[in-house]
Amino acid sequence: MCRRAIRQVMMDARILSVLLSTLLQYVSSNVIVYPSPQGIHPSDKFDVSISQSGHQHQLFVYISKSDQRSKQTSRTQPGRSMSWTSFAFTGAAVTVEVHAPKDFNNCLVKPSSYGYKCRRTGIKTAAFTVSHNTRMMSVEFDYDYGFGVSDIVDKLFVFADPPEGSVPSPHDRNVLYYGPGIHDLHKEIVVDKDIREVYIAPGAYIRGGFQLPHGRVKFHGRGIVSNENFVRHDDSIGQSAIDFKGSSNNVFDGVTIADPSTFFYLSNGDDNVVRNARLVAAWMGNSDGIGIGDRGLVEDSFIIADDANIKMHKSHMTVRRCVLWQMQNGGVFQTGWTTAYVRNVSISNMDVIHVDYCKFKDPCTHFSSNDAVLDTFGNTRHFDISDMRFEDIRVEGSCPRVVHFVMNPAAKGTISNLKVINMSVESQPTNDPLHNEIAGTSIGGRITNWQFVNFKVGGHCISNPDQGDFRIDPHTTKDITFSCHSGSIIG
Ligand SMILES: *[C@@H]1O[C@H](CO)[C@@H](O)[C@H](O)[C@H]1NC(C)=O
Ligand SMILES: *[C@@H]1O[C@H](CO)[C@@H](O)[C@H](O)[C@H]1NC(C)=O
Repeated sequence: MCRRAIRQVMMDARILSVLLSTLLQYVSSNVIVYPSPQGIHPSDKFDVSISQSGHQHQLFVYISKSDQRSKQTSRTQPGRSMSWTSFAFTGAAVTVEVHAPKDFNNCLVKPSSYGYKCRRTGIKTAAFTVSHNTRMMSVEFDYDYGFGVSDIVDKLFVFADPPEGSVPSPHDRNVLYYGPGIHDLHKEIVVDKDIREVYIAPGAYIRGGFQLPHGRVKFHGRGIVSNENFVRHDDSIGQSAIDFKGSSNNVFDGVTIADPSTFFYLSNGDDNVVRNARLVAAWMGNSDGIGIGDRGLVEDSFIIADDANIKMHKSHMTVRRCVLWQMQNGGVFQTGWTTAYVRNVSISNMDVIHVDYCKFKDPCTHFSSNDAVLDTFGNTRHFDISDMRFEDIRVEGSCPRVVHFVMNPAAKGTISNLKVINMSVESQPTNDPLHNEIAGTSIGGRITNWQFVNFKVGGHCISNPDQGDFRIDPHTTKDITFSCHSGSIIG
């Protein structure tokens, strides 16, 4: 009797322990590690692993190097690399461990708004804890912070993705499905009208581009589309690595675009969405980030560009929660270059983690009018822009120029009703002859009714143009104000 009871208790305990370990496995399998593609060399700069609830996983780290591109354009610096890796998770926080090529004392995870502290945990080893997914991080080491005239020589991005939504069947005839491994398309392919989904699986690596002129396509997955084996401005790619042309109602979700031969992403139709996109390895001028049509939505994306990063060319556009890196050239938020009829643009909660205009210039006394965080440039002859709102924009590091809205002397029309609320710039050097500038034209170009509210440089709120190193032309502008408030702002 007594013995049977003991046996029963032991059996219950065994069942319980099996249940418990199943449960533990379930908890720790909240990490999704992507397959490594056969035939792609991993980064020779960084190793990255992750752990959640004590289970460690090695990640595949991709790398793109600038040497080949530096032979195609004189401005591209040789000897640079960008490494990146991705994983997805839910639930408990994930610890990321990075093995760097050199030892260091300090390291950083940007954007700093995430609040993730980088720690040195051993020789050449850094660790940080990621508490939420949908985070796009740059990991930076004190031997290569990119201060002064050099940029960061060996960049590393770590992308913590949300898990994928529904994954299509590879046998569905309305799906263009790319599984793990290398796919050489040899050009930009034109996707057929009956295709509803293009799926780039985790671990898939496409060499080529996609043109999608028909609309209503979901382009998604966690794989990579690269133009690495196409020359600059390659005719077989065309204007953009991913080009939705004038088509509408498309979604672009989760895919990485690397090393574009010209632009990364373009869609000129209506109601297009870009979400969780990772745009990396912008080595050459003209590698514009996102150009999107009316009612476009861009969110939770990482964009490194060496020309216009986000184009404000169309109306009713929403851009939020992105992490941006600007290389040596181009406006971060750019209007201009095209007929400018734009209404109702909202750009919010953005982290601009590097602005590299002054790199390789010593002293930095000149760069193009194309270069500023808020910028207009190009041969625009008629402006009709109003109602643009920039809110919670954080610019890290030393930013050579924040605002440059100087109309082309041959331009007419107006840029009016622009609000900049809660923008902070870590620092802006006061380098003659480079200043923030706002000016219309003597033939009737006008800039009116702009409000800078809680615009901070180096932690100080700017309450007049001089404090912020602004040159504002009194003859062609009107009602450009700076104000400082504590607490929340309504407007
Ligand atoms: C501004 O754009 C947003 C996003 O497309 C839209 O929801 C809103 O209705 C627009 N507002 C106006 C006044 O057009
Ligand atoms: C701007 O910053 C203030 C203070 O940090 C905050 O209370 C407010 O919610 C932010 N956004 C707006 C639109 O006021």
